[in-house]
Amino acid sequence: MKRIGILTAGGDTPTMNATVYGAVVRANQLKVEIFGLIKGFNCLFNPRVPHVHLNPLYQEIPELDPTKGGTLIGASRDYVDPEKKAELDLVASRLKGLGIEGLICVGGDGTLNGLQPLAERLPTVLAPKTIDNDLGLNYSSEPDEWVRIKDSDARSGFRYEHRSSQAVFDLEYVVNYVTPGYATAVFVSAGGVERIRTTAESHRRIAIIEVMGRHSGYLALGSAYGRPDIILVPEHPLDLERLVERVKHLYDLQKNVVIVCGEGIVDEQGRELGAETKTTDPAGNVALSGAAEALRHKFIQMIGDRYFQLYRRGNSAREAVFTRKVGHTQRGGRPILFDRFYAAQLGAKAVELLLEGQNNAVAILQHNSSRGFHVEGYDANRFRDRWGYIHARRMHPLLYDPKLMKPSRAGVDYLLPIFTDAIGEDDMEHIRRTLFAQGNLAQPYHSINTDINKRIRYLAEEEAAI
Ligand code: F6P
Repeated sequence: MKRIGILTAGGDTPTMNATVYGAVVRANQLKVEIFGLIKGFNCLFNPRVPHVHLNPLYQEIPELDPTKGGTLIGASRDYVDPEKKAELDLVASRLKGLGIEGLICVGGDGTLNGLQPLAERLPTVLAPKTIDNDLGLNYSSEPDEWVRIKDSDARSGFRYEHRSSQAVFDLEYVVNYVTPGYATAVFVSAGGVERIRTTAESHRRIAIIEVMGRHSGYLALGSAYGRPDIILVPEHPLDLERLVERVKHLYDLQKNVVIVCGEGIVDEQGRELGAETKTTDPAGNVALSGAAEALRHKFIQMIGDRYFQLYRRGNSAREAVFTRKVGHTQRGGRPILFDRFYAAQLGAKAVELLLEGQNNAVAILQHNSSRGFHVEGYDANRFRDRWGYIHARRMHPLLYDPKLMKPSRAGVDYLLPIFTDAIGEDDMEHIRRTLFAQGNLAQPYHSINTDINKRIRYLAEEEAAI
């Protein structure tokens, strides 16, 4: 294999450049050319296939910086539809036209779902990334536990349900222990929780902080490092009565409460809170308000104003209970040491998998007590259920203690190897040197897109006519 393509797909993470960098460095050593395909799968649907040669003369281009967040080749949520065979054939012939003999997709579970039809046309492998940490398996037989049920309301006509498991959960056997992007997202959200605390303390308020993660509670779990009083995860339906009781107990004791909730938390009936409460803006338009805001409304109803007025702690529940979303700051910015180191290793492993002749494979990050963290290759089909679908990994329920509403002992054991030395000295030094640099006030932001645009090349016009 002399030339491979690489693309970054789905929502970005701070580690995408690090993965591309790792792939390019390994390709340099193996004397393989790498073309970066612009804007994820979107590039493949464009007959001109915009791309950048990332290692002319087997040297990485200077714009490729593993410490920079985002992705220099752009990302999109476009995906490959396995039913569109003619379009897939076109994609394959365009890549052939570019002389690309193998493809690396940097992505999450959605990207992995789209891998198979591509892998039927050219060798394709995945290097994982997602702040949600939901690409992986709690144990290798997990895909077999899904059942498919006919559902006329679902877009595909089916919905999937995970049946309770007989498998023993053991951290030593988790498949793809952690995904690049997760550690940095936790770094940001835990820091946010810490900062909210002192303001909640000063004003005797109850803070509800919403973190991302979709239906998976890993991000909420990791935010335990910011020492919230209560963590709520989507994998454990809310028991509102108990929650309110706990909030009042804590408030009576310390006069402030900090709660972290995952954006996908559900009520006792399994309904997502974030999709439930509707508010209207001043113009009367209905807006979906999110999980934290929905929870706040429940607290306002259930705790009531009198509780706060009684001890002169505030005028109303509305004033005392406030919400904040950590939002996209979790996805942006410089990756911390742990993330960029292993993201680069996974990029390098993806190149090796292609050169070993593997196809439809995933570079995974494993952890066990004897070897610590290490990268391996894994057959992508082993992530699929019997209908061929790859499900996002949910946090194993045993990682959370529903009574304490905090990580369980197993949850703590899960987090420790990732975070104990996750921050490099240079990460802090970088902030010290750059945040208040004088130049920030005088110079406009220089976007990497401006530089990379100058390097973009297109498939020759005659080939583009395919
Ligand atoms: O999958 C990553 C993620 O950040 C989720 O945690 C979040 O729900 C979603 O993407 C947000 O997507 P968007 O940036 O498209 O709003």
